[in-house]
Amino acid sequence: MTTAESFQVSVEAAELYESTFVPALFAEWAPLLIDAGQVEAGQSVLDVACGTGIVARTAADRLAGTGRVVGLDLNPAMLAVAQRVRPDLEWQQGDVAAMPFPDGAFDRVLCQMALMFFPDRPTALREMARVAAPGGIVAMCVPAALDQQPAYGPFVEMAVDRAGPAARSLLSTYWACGDPDELVATVRAAGLEVVESRTHLGSASFPSPEALAETEVRGSPLVDRISDAVFARIRDGAREVLRPFTGSAGAVEAPLRGLLLAARVPGG
Ligand SMILES: C[S@@+](CC[C@H](N)C(=O)[O-])C[C@H]1O[C@@H](n2cnc3c(N)ncnc32)[C@H](O)[C@@H]1O
Repeated sequence: MTTAESFQVSVEAAELYESTFVPALFAEWAPLLIDAGQVEAGQSVLDVACGTGIVARTAADRLAGTGRVVGLDLNPAMLAVAQRVRPDLEWQQGDVAAMPFPDGAFDRVLCQMALMFFPDRPTALREMARVAAPGGIVAMCVPAALDQQPAYGPFVEMAVDRAGPAARSLLSTYWACGDPDELVATVRAAGLEVVESRTHLGSASFPSPEALAETEVRGSPLVDRISDAVFARIRDGAREVLRPFTGSAGAVEAPLRGLLLAARVPGG
């Protein structure tokens, strides 16, 4: 995996991620993940691959001034935006494969929509288990497989058709952890006891099909890999493939299926 697939973006792209991607798509999952992780007042919570920090700040609101919340991300641009939005929380640059925390430092370790970007998922999961206290919980959510996605399936097929391999490498990364049995097996292999595994059908809201395409392409490194002409063809294609999810006023509600999994660290 190149650095591009691990979502290395500019501050400009991180701001766009925060203003468009987060409300359109990711904010819905944060409370679900926090529920799956059984986050309660007084706990220490780590948000792994926090991006601009939606899970960390939702957890902080849940803790209501008690406990401790830390967000960790590889990408300084994402952390700069996280820091701007919530300067009161702790933001730490680092790689999930070798996190700068002692063993058992957190009661809860949460990871939202990022596992699929980690080049070595077994190591990442072992590291998440290491920094969680015995008896603590590691919880994650990932998009379900592309063949389970009624809107994104056709969208990605169309984008790959129009942009070629540049789009395939990025857009297929999103769905790489979407097999529930495989995910459970990988988590168990990291020494964790799975306590909950379920799917949830969320939705991605955009003012138009073109806006969905804009957000997907501009909020990711794909924007640097394709010409303006290809970008325009993807926008046109989005209108066609997202028609079933487009309302009379032109807005899109694209269903997005995800997997939620919570696992306990033995002991405690
Ligand atoms: C799709 S974003 C999700 C961000 C956030 N969890 C959310 O729900 O908005 C994926 C994030 O994973 C981060 N990331 C990718 N590889 C990483 C790694 N090896 N260690 C830490 N963070 C990583 C990226 O920088 C990016 O912020």
